[in-house]
Amino acid sequence: MKVITTIAELRAALKAERLKGKSIGLVPTMGYLHIGHMELVRRSKSVSAITVVSIFVNPTQFGPNEDLSTYPRDMEGDLAKLKAEGVDYVFTPEVAEIYRPGANTIVDNPVLSRVLIGKIRPGHFRGVTTVVTKLFNIVQPDHAFFGEKDYQQLTIIRRMVADLDMPIEITGVATVREPDGVACSSRNAMLTPADRKAAVVLAKSLAQAERMVAKGQRSVSAIRHAVRAVLETEKRGEIESVDIRDAQTLDPVSGKFKQPVVILLTVRFGKVRLIDQRVVG
Ligand code: PAF
Repeated sequence: MKVITTIAELRAALKAERLKGKSIGLVPTMGYLHIGHMELVRRSKSVSAITVVSIFVNPTQFGPNEDLSTYPRDMEGDLAKLKAEGVDYVFTPEVAEIYRPGANTIVDNPVLSRVLIGKIRPGHFRGVTTVVTKLFNIVQPDHAFFGEKDYQQLTIIRRMVADLDMPIEITGVATVREPDGVACSSRNAMLTPADRKAAVVLAKSLAQAERMVAKGQRSVSAIRHAVRAVLETEKRGEIESVDIRDAQTLDPVSGKFKQPVVILLTVRFGKVRLIDQRVVG
């Protein structure tokens, strides 16, 4: 496994691989890797000859009052996990390597990045689409892998790749969960033990929605009401949003839904914002 910090060195190494006819898979991450990331790596390795993992805590996707400075980091632990998984290249650039003086071009989806989490976190998705475009241009992967947990992010990236004719196959990978059902997230490490225990309420509320849909319920308001009722049983969590949207387009849905919908949750525990999602229908 090669750990590379500069764009020039990574490009040279990957050019040599491409000349040998090898396909390249990219797993973009912000580090502090958990079993959900490892699943992305495994999926990449199953379809790509070469797997590149990037570890870069991207400052442009954090708002001024967000958790950039406290975002958990563990480069040594991350590299050990990636080595054990048989990753070929790890790209760990400094901020100055990615954002050079004078840079001011951005990539933005002015529709999808302004709704849902984009409303709560203005500028967040613009930071994501800009850095992911840069990583795509640096690595030029054939495939790239993203978790379904960040459902809006995955939808925006799929839209971007289609709209801008990027020749990359995007694979969304199902959310990996802890044994109690809590979605794996680097942010779980920032929860107090009591909040970590309480966080299971997100998965519980989604399971309740799934049961209702399995029994034939298709009313958006009935499902939203039931999800909120479960979330409200946990006083430690502050519900920020419960949204039910078209699973493909993220368009709002009302009345009775006919196409699959995605339920998107944002709940805060202290300063930590947790998200979870489930596609139903
Ligand atoms: O999902 C993440 O960890 C980040 O948003 C990503 C895709 C690596 C971009 O910084």
